[in-house]
Amino acid sequence: MEFNIAFIGFGVVGQGLAEILIEQEEFLKKNYDFHFKVVAVSDTMKGSWYKRTGLDLKKLLALVKENGNLKGYGEGIEGWDSLKTIEETNANLILEVAWTDLKTGEPAITHVKTALKNKKHVVLTNKGPIALAVRELLDLAKKNGVEMRYEGTVLSGTPALNLGLNNLAGAGITKAMGIVNGTTNYILTEMEKGMSYEDALKQAQELGYAEADPTADVEGFDALGKIVILANTVMGANLSKDEPPCEGITKITAEDIVKAKEEGFRWKLIAGAEIKKDGSIDAYVRPEKIPLTHPLANIMGPTNALTYSTKYVSDVTIVGPGAGKLPTGFALLTDILDINRLVSKR
Ligand code: HSE
Repeated sequence: MEFNIAFIGFGVVGQGLAEILIEQEEFLKKNYDFHFKVVAVSDTMKGSWYKRTGLDLKKLLALVKENGNLKGYGEGIEGWDSLKTIEETNANLILEVAWTDLKTGEPAITHVKTALKNKKHVVLTNKGPIALAVRELLDLAKKNGVEMRYEGTVLSGTPALNLGLNNLAGAGITKAMGIVNGTTNYILTEMEKGMSYEDALKQAQELGYAEADPTADVEGFDALGKIVILANTVMGANLSKDEPPCEGITKITAEDIVKAKEEGFRWKLIAGAEIKKDGSIDAYVRPEKIPLTHPLANIMGPTNALTYSTKYVSDVTIVGPGAGKLPTGFALLTDILDINRLVSKR
């Protein structure tokens, strides 16, 4: 299939995918019959370009690396904002990777709705729209005969959602429990090695793991958004984003960490969702003291992990990166290839 792609936002995640697309273009054509042109890039800070016959992705990436913006690109139409780009370009696949407010989900929700109403497929890694409005958006996609995918919202390119949605479909998932925030796991790991909380947080920010406002990480809201997405999309829950109890890591002291280790435990920020006997689903985010013999106790640094408990295959754990330029860029690619597979069969 041939796709005309528009990037809404060209930050770290968008650039990550651009690097992969440049490197893998021939492989993707040959192995997956996936053909693409990037026809538009629209970023509020870096600038916007549209050319219906296709932009030069290598040149765009080089410009942004050299100058931090796209201003000197010079070919095609300059300056269309995100909504005009979504509505008026010949793109049929919109990648929503713009900066978004996690509390309101905007402007990403508006971008996604506009794209779907204009019968354009959407792939996104922004948690806000999915945590707040996944049902409404999936319905809108269905009504308009297009697809929306969001693997990167949970564990970035580590296929945690697809594992639950596809591979474990019918396995009777009863529970999901994991470490779904890299920043807090990194902080807890470094504190165990003797670093102060403040220094560890600063490092997590410098390494690009933390959210723009790291309160979302350390108070557990980022993990909460992810477990709500997982419970609602994989386990059939209908939780609102602020419903489950949520506690972060800010009350854990260096002494707590040392003491737990001496007792054969490790503090981890755990996000969980469990189907109760009455069929309702409980979700939570809280620090838990995990025995060192438990697989999740040995997930260190920014790495994430998620264990699905199932009726027929017992516990299945997936471990991998939960953030980062290439892992999150890859999450977009895996969704794009899924859409390519589906649409090719129609
Ligand atoms: N701030 C997030 C984390 C980034 O630390 O896991 C990925 O969602």
